[in-house]
Amino acid sequence: MQGKYKALWLNDDDFYEYLEVIDQTKLPFEYDTKILTTTDEVVRAIKNMTVRGAGVIGSVAAFGIYIAAIEVEGDYEKLKEKANLIRESRPTAVNLMWAVDKMMELLKDSEDPEDSDALAEAALEFAIQLNDEEALESQKIAQYGCDIIEEILKKKNKTKINILTHCNAGWLAVIDEGTALAPIYEAKRRGIDVHVWVDETRPRNQGASLTAWELAQSEIEHTIIADNTGGHLMQHGEVDMVIVGADRVSASGDVANKIGTYLKALAAYDNNIPFYVAIPASTFDFSIKDGVKEIPIELRSPDEVRYMKGVDDEGIVREVLITPKDSPAINYGFDVTPARLITGLITNKGVCEADFDKIQEKFKRENI
Ligand code: MRU
Repeated sequence: MQGKYKALWLNDDDFYEYLEVIDQTKLPFEYDTKILTTTDEVVRAIKNMTVRGAGVIGSVAAFGIYIAAIEVEGDYEKLKEKANLIRESRPTAVNLMWAVDKMMELLKDSEDPEDSDALAEAALEFAIQLNDEEALESQKIAQYGCDIIEEILKKKNKTKINILTHCNAGWLAVIDEGTALAPIYEAKRRGIDVHVWVDETRPRNQGASLTAWELAQSEIEHTIIADNTGGHLMQHGEVDMVIVGADRVSASGDVANKIGTYLKALAAYDNNIPFYVAIPASTFDFSIKDGVKEIPIELRSPDEVRYMKGVDDEGIVREVLITPKDSPAINYGFDVTPARLITGLITNKGVCEADFDKIQEKFKRENI
């Protein structure tokens, strides 16, 4: 699978299982991990993006409910309060709310007045189950997505594919192998010659810092580009397809993803380049129809725009101001790409048109 690392895992210290995660704020300069033992630590890790990426936020939230269940000593009513804190830690990725709601629903009959450990034990079991299911979905996305890569190569009579991606939707973002990057890992396994254009993804540089790091770990050929380069490359035949992940997809197939995704979709549409969005079922939000109007967009600190982080010649990580000291900045975390610009959704159930009826047919009638 993804090689020697994982975004999160459980450790056993003989008394109880505890959660450890990769500290993604330190990559690519340093590989470090954090142990999360309290609800507050879980909430902080999600807010400050120690862990990020829609799927991984959901995974950590599910284990967060387990950690919270230990803290409340088996009291479901008290657990509800802690669950809300986790649920509200970031607003756009619906996987977070989905994981918390699903855990709370599964746990509603698990309180046992005779056994204060019962709730936490059940929570651990459900969190593992939920994560196993997500991992399986990622593996299916890898297969279906890679079939599309093969089709495109066949149609174009080419042997090498150039894929553009935005932000990070690899194994750091969704267990097991991610969403957008899962078909790329599978392409490598199938012996396909693949090159990835990696959008740097300002302001937090998830492309330059995380996607490039992931691809380098797996020895996949890639080139980091400034965010504004994609359109130019598309005009000159240097992009065969775009694959991105998503943080929330409306019932009609509008896609919220990292800020800048919409501009890539417009450029791809104008240049007749297939634009795919890879998602697990938990990324759908069936309560929302018009994504542009209804999906809540996270507004983050302007300082993420005003400052840049990097490593100096002595190997010291520093943050530097790159704007005039008093100029204001605004930092929208996500944008919404309307369904009409999307070639298809690569899901665990195969490729689905970004269309209300098609999505309903494939997903809504089943319990996802
Ligand atoms: O702010 P982040 O890093 O949590 O945002 C993540 C993204 O927007 C990714 O693009 C991704 O597609 C969603 S995670 C599969």
